Order: sequence, then C-alpha cells, then structure tokens
Amino acid sequence: MAEAATGKLASIHPAQCREWPGHYTFTPEEIVRIHGIVAMLLFWIAASFTSSTAAETKATMKKQPFGKTEDGRSVDLYTLTNKSGTEVAITNFGGIVVALKVPDRNGKLDDVVLGYDNLDGYTSNTAYFGAIIGRYGNRIAHGEFALDGVTYRLPQNDGDNTLHGGKVGFNKRVWTVKDVSGSPGPALELTYLSKDGEEGFPGNLNVRVVYTLTDKNELRIEYFATTDKPTVVNLTNHSYFNLAGQGNGDILGHEVVLHADRFTPVDQALIPTGELRPVKGTPFDFTKPTAIGARMNQEDQQLKVGRGYDHNWVLNGGGRGGLSLAAEAYDAKSGRVLDVLTTEPGIQFYTGNFLDGTIHGKGGKVYNLRYGFCLETQHFPDSPNHPSFPPTLLKPGQEYRSTTVFKFSTR
Ligand code: BGC
Repeated sequence: MAEAATGKLASIHPAQCREWPGHYTFTPEEIVRIHGIVAMLLFWIAASFTSSTAAETKATMKKQPFGKTEDGRSVDLYTLTNKSGTEVAITNFGGIVVALKVPDRNGKLDDVVLGYDNLDGYTSNTAYFGAIIGRYGNRIAHGEFALDGVTYRLPQNDGDNTLHGGKVGFNKRVWTVKDVSGSPGPALELTYLSKDGEEGFPGNLNVRVVYTLTDKNELRIEYFATTDKPTVVNLTNHSYFNLAGQGNGDILGHEVVLHADRFTPVDQALIPTGELRPVKGTPFDFTKPTAIGARMNQEDQQLKVGRGYDHNWVLNGGGRGGLSLAAEAYDAKSGRVLDVLTTEPGIQFYTGNFLDGTIHGKGGKVYNLRYGFCLETQHFPDSPNHPSFPPTLLKPGQEYRSTTVFKFSTR
C-alpha cells in the first residue's frame, strides 16, 4: 500500500522527488496541496459535527413535581424530549398530555394543546383536556347496558347518559409510572387497575398505556387492557389541538381531512341513532381538505344538535388490525400538519363547542368557543347498546389493544 502510494507520487513528479533510504520528501507544491486537502477534511468534519449537534440533541425524560391530589397523593409531570427538540409533557394524574411543543415551518416551537399550568386546573376540569378516557370513551345511553343477561347501571354525568367513563373516569385517576424509553424515543408507561364495580363497570380491568415520542415527531399512544370478567372497554385520548398554538385564536381556519365516507348521526342527547349515514353532499364530508368553519353555520339538523361538529365518523380503513390514516389537519399560517393514524374503527371529531371563554388555560390564555378541536380515535359511542356496531366487549383471556399515532410535520 505504502509502496503503491509512493510509486504513484514518484511517477507523477519523478524529477522533483528526492529519495532517502525509506523516506520521501514532498515538494513545496505538494505540501501546499496536502495542506489544502487536510484543511478541507477538517472543515467537513467540523461542519458535519456542528450541524448534527444543532439539529439533534439527546432524547431525554425529565420528572418534576406537579402537585397533590385532593386526597393528598403526589403526582408528577414527565417531560419527554426527542432528538430534534420536540417535547411532550405528561402527568400521571389522568395520563394527561399537559403540553406538546412542536415546530412550525420555521422551526419555532409552540405548544399545540389546550390545558392548565398546574394540577388544580385538571382536578376541577370538566373539558377532559389531554386526558386518557376510560373505561368507556364517549356516551352510554341512559347510563346502562346489558351483558350476559345482567343490566349494569352507571353513574349518569351527562343528562341521563354516562360520558367518558362516569363521574370519576380514568382522566381523574392517579396512574403508576415507568420509564420505558427505547430506540424509537423517550417513552412513558402508565398503568392503572380499575377495580370490579368501579363506576358501575364489571371486572377488574388492568390498563396499560404507553406514550412514546418518536424521533420522527410522532406521539404514539398504545393502549392495552385485560379483565377477569366480561366487560366493555373503549379507551381514547382527549387532547384539544390548536396548530397555531394553544390560546392563539379559533380553529375554524384549520383544514381537515377525515378518511371516512360515513358518520353516525345522533339524537338530541348525542346518542347515535344506529344509522351509518353517507357524508356525501352534507357538511360532514371531509373527504377533501376543508376548513373546519367552512360549513359550520349551514342549516343542518345534525350540526344543530351537536352545536357544531361533535360526531363519530366511520373510518374507511379502521378496525382492521393495522394502523391506517384516519385524519389530517393543517394550519396554513404556521405550516403545521397533524396526521392521525389509528387501529380504531371510529373517530370523534369535536370542535370545542362547549368552550365559552370561562376557562383560563396555560399562560393565562382564555379558551373561547372553538379554540381547539379533538380527534378522539375510538369505537363508536354507545356501542354496548348497538349490536350492529363493532363490539367493545372484552372477555377474560383476551387482550384489548389499540394504537393511535399523532404525527407532526410542516409544509
Ligand atoms: C364529546 C363532547 C363533550 C366533550 C367534552 C367529547 O368527546 O363528544 O360531547 O362535550 O367530549 O366533554
């Protein structure tokens, strides 16, 4: 190898090469050229090192106290940061996503979910900001359902319906935490045992939820549950998004796509009638990118009962085992894009119709009507009372599994 190199130099500049036994000396021109090459190499190494440190930091998880519950239990806030600096803060009170900081098209981070700065806000919260919802997401009509000939009665917390698991749902429980960070990114595992009879539901239900913030700016949520008696389960996350940043105006200008050709119309109490109605030709058609507010004020009986969008869409690719693209949202000003992928058959698109300016959220921001929207991946509302809907029954020996990915990017 050394010989070959020497031979090449010698053959290029034979006259200029002085030969010593075992050594060669370079001419001044060669030295200048070699200096140039070395300088370029050093510059390249330094440049690639600098750019990788500027764009990529180490993925981390930080824990800090978040307050005490009314019964004196301490809860914490876990901040997960991925290699590009995207950040999600989750508390083990309700498994709530407290903050989610993602870049706009210029790389500026903003918190895109509604919520509170401290635990007190969440303990009295009735909007379910950011929370894990269970044991049954959305409504169960008249607070009852039957299983194997037994009628189960649940606390009624929404007229005579049961909403989001009852009076004290999973959103108000203290969960046990484990750091399960791995190669996809920092990850937090939350577990909770919902005892037999809690909020009227049968069976001891062991629930596990894993939040992973991947290095591709995805917040991946995996839900698992097992039971020792037949029961019903429908878990989701109730984050309110505003891609312009929380508290920065309403979401009516966001463009949304829902990959669903049908939705489940509701009665006056927001209970599905059982019909799977085609969206074509209605304000519920989001099969093409459409501003949320574009048809909100149209004369439409379903928009009237929902006070806007507060409905379940039947996902075209949902409920088949794998992840499929369910929804997309885009805020043209910031350039932020949110893609929602899920294994679930339905998605509740709720446009913050009950926000009324009485809530003072993070940083003192006031949340007015339609300042956030939810994309709650789920089984359809009131499924235990609709045998034609995809079933929500979980039996001993089975495992409930559900995955949803909130993926952020820009354009
Ligand atoms: C429901 C709404 C409800 C909101 C907040 C949504 O999932 O569909 O009707 O007002 O949650 O509780």
